[in-house]
Amino acid sequence: TSDIIARAVEVLRENDQGAYTIPTKGLYPFQWNWDSCLTALGLGHYDEARAWTEMETLFAHQWPDGMVPHIVFHVWNDSYFPGPDVWRTGRPTATSGITQPAVAGFAARRLFDRANDKKLAAERARALLPKIDAWHRWFYENRDPKGEGLVAIIHPWESGRDNSIDWDEAFERVSAEGVEPYTRRDILHADPAHRPTREQYDRYIWLVQHFRGLGWDNARLHDASPFQVVDPGFNAILIRAAADLADLAEALGETEIAIANRGRARKALAAMERLWSETHGRYLCLDRVTGELIDSASVGGLLPAFAAIPRPRAAAIAATVERLAGKARYVVPSHDPGDPRFDAKRYWRGPVWLVVNYMISDGLTAAGHGHVAQRITQSSLDLIRGSGFAEYYDPLTGEPLGGGRFTWTAAMVIEFLR
Ligand code: DGY
Repeated sequence: TSDIIARAVEVLRENDQGAYTIPTKGLYPFQWNWDSCLTALGLGHYDEARAWTEMETLFAHQWPDGMVPHIVFHVWNDSYFPGPDVWRTGRPTATSGITQPAVAGFAARRLFDRANDKKLAAERARALLPKIDAWHRWFYENRDPKGEGLVAIIHPWESGRDNSIDWDEAFERVSAEGVEPYTRRDILHADPAHRPTREQYDRYIWLVQHFRGLGWDNARLHDASPFQVVDPGFNAILIRAAADLADLAEALGETEIAIANRGRARKALAAMERLWSETHGRYLCLDRVTGELIDSASVGGLLPAFAAIPRPRAAAIAATVERLAGKARYVVPSHDPGDPRFDAKRYWRGPVWLVVNYMISDGLTAAGHGHVAQRITQSSLDLIRGSGFAEYYDPLTGEPLGGGRFTWTAAMVIEFLR
């Protein structure tokens, strides 16, 4: 165990740029939003001050409207596409123009609760608190314009689950007309069979150009996007983060922030019921443009275990994970292997990801399903022992996929073993 932790720390140190950590060399040479916040948990294991710095560096690039961008381009590097010249967001330090799952509130609370240096933690958490709160407010103001309680993503990259089967139908509405010529860089660093397709990339870029044409004005982007999807996983992470931020605010005597986030979490949890599917044993995405649920059995529908969902829902999700364990050697596959669209090697269309495993097992433990959580932890550790710190893994064979020496995978291993 101590040997694996030492190897994980080595990966974190290798990718550490001083005040932020890159996800992996080559493929992702900048700071990514949810990567960083989850990485902070691993950093906190051996350097608490450095862990807080990781999140502070990200929030130093928060937009004036409250959004926290999904990439901060701290340095010039042409090994990644699309770079700052494509985004053109006009920020002092270049950033992308979309956001990512809001794990910061959860990570800040966990770092604070575990801190050995309580004085340092209180000081650093207190400074982050209003920034995370502003991000949460931004979400509900800009991505839930009708006040329904749930936020929509307007680009698949926002979900973090870039090429999930969840987006296929809604993506039909996104055109590829007028996409400026480009060269992908990701497939120089990773096997193209493990990555999104060319058709998907065209549409990713079309959306970026479309939003850029609207001046990255968040007051307009949601309604102007042909892609508006309410992702249960994304919302559940935000709900958990809001509840955790409320607890953290309470501990620090910041009553207003506590009340606001408590209210957001409560309203959103109630609204989540609309996404539940008894037949799928999980939550489903809602296409906000058509108003219909999307028939896709992805891990996004299991992630809500991370939030304080009703007991029967958590129990059904635990049962679904057990069922998946009968179909895949390693859980939790990012898509149900029984679906003909499942692809064991292609990014978010089948492979296992340790960050998702971590969040689901954390939630299932809290809901009293420790044995299923244990199964997820065991799969995660088996993958590490057999295949190293990969970006993601084939759920049938355990083969390592995507980038190697991957930061958040290493951070999650430390979490699983502590
Ligand atoms: C990528 O480029 O693959 C990223 O997931 C987008 O953030």
